[in-house]
Amino acid sequence: MVVLALAMFVALSSCAVGCSGNTNSSELKLWRVEDQPLSVQLAAIFKEMESLKCEQTTLQQQHNALTQMHISSHQKRAQKKVAGTHILTYSPNYIEVDNFQSSVEDARRRGDPCFHYTVLDQTWRATNTTSKLKMCDRQVDWKGWYRLFYKGKSLQMPERCVPVNKCGTNSPLWLSGPHPRIRDGIVTRNVCGTWNKRCCAFHSTPIKVKKCPGNYYVYQFTKPTSCYLAYCADINTLVCGRCRRNQSCVSRDKINWRCKTNRISSQKIHFFASYPAQINGKLNRIKYSKVLVNVGRAFDRRTGVFRAPVKGIYQFFFSTQTTIKGLKTDLWLVINNYWVAVSRAHVPRSYSVGSTSTYMTFLRRGASVYVTHNCGNSWATAASMTITFGGSLLLQSK
Ligand SMILES: *[C@@H]1O[C@H](CO)[C@@H](O)[C@H](O)[C@H]1NC(C)=O
Ligand SMILES: *[C@@H]1O[C@H](CO)[C@@H](O)[C@H](O)[C@H]1NC(C)=O
Repeated sequence: MVVLALAMFVALSSCAVGCSGNTNSSELKLWRVEDQPLSVQLAAIFKEMESLKCEQTTLQQQHNALTQMHISSHQKRAQKKVAGTHILTYSPNYIEVDNFQSSVEDARRRGDPCFHYTVLDQTWRATNTTSKLKMCDRQVDWKGWYRLFYKGKSLQMPERCVPVNKCGTNSPLWLSGPHPRIRDGIVTRNVCGTWNKRCCAFHSTPIKVKKCPGNYYVYQFTKPTSCYLAYCADINTLVCGRCRRNQSCVSRDKINWRCKTNRISSQKIHFFASYPAQINGKLNRIKYSKVLVNVGRAFDRRTGVFRAPVKGIYQFFFSTQTTIKGLKTDLWLVINNYWVAVSRAHVPRSYSVGSTSTYMTFLRRGASVYVTHNCGNSWATAASMTITFGGSLLLQSK
């Protein structure tokens, strides 16, 4: 006969929160079932609205870029000398549109250059242009942050030497350090200008760079040291605009770029151990000395304590088998010194019963987990696998 202690545990916990009887809990269950379709429906509607908003933002972006192109083609003829007049301010209306974000998120976005930048969509800045233009970014009154585009498509500055007379100028400016990662935040980078076959003939004024979610960069450009110097837009990085959110744009030679899916490094943690002998009465911490599985080495067989090596969701199970004395036998799972789940076996007659409990929880790194034998008699031999303890990391969190 096997008594499932899980059911008992559920009963125990509902008493702990003060439920008065069976009617209450069945009502609760009914509500849960009926609520579900509604919440699923709502979620679908929310998703739809979000995608509409996304579309709206993209359309606005495209519209801006088109207006920008129109203006620049006009001005190219009229005002060839003055660079920077083609700049169109782009302030995305994320804050008005995005009602779903919390106010904390809004506050963060308000000061975040990833959401407040000027679109710089000037085809002459591309690394593959060899026009006779002589643009000089020293004549531009740079203010705030900029994002580079080529005909409405996002791209980034070159990270390698650009030959002279490209990018609509004499000495093209390129970034002499790598673009930052998201976790680097805002970084300062040196800028080089090519001249006389020297890649860094001009050490121009440094600029600030930030990587944004969605695989694009914003730059805080400054006046270069002299004329004719202009910031370049690397045409080879156009592909980066097509990378998904869970991808990064990578390149070995800084010429050929591609989208690479980010690897989620997830640690594997699994353990399973047993106690090879009988336990009579109270035993503060069961030292499960027979370890069959210990992937990740988070379980210590000398102490019987499992220590969470990473933050995440863990599942544990522990079991016992009573001796035939018919006493109440309680084993408790103890997490950070709190008794969280019991495995109870209690039959009034001289039967031996097995009992297993499971528990799933979120743990921080370093949390301790063990099993205590609170009362009764548990039976096991070296081969019986009746007093056991095991667990797994189900999902690692960041
Ligand atoms: C530069 O590259 C873009 C995108 O590949 C292309 O459309 C354009 O024609 C190229 N320009 C020149 C001058 O080669
Ligand atoms: C990356 O995201 C796409 C959806 O944008 C999804 O289909 C794909 O499974 C994800 N890949 C990984 C490895 O998470």
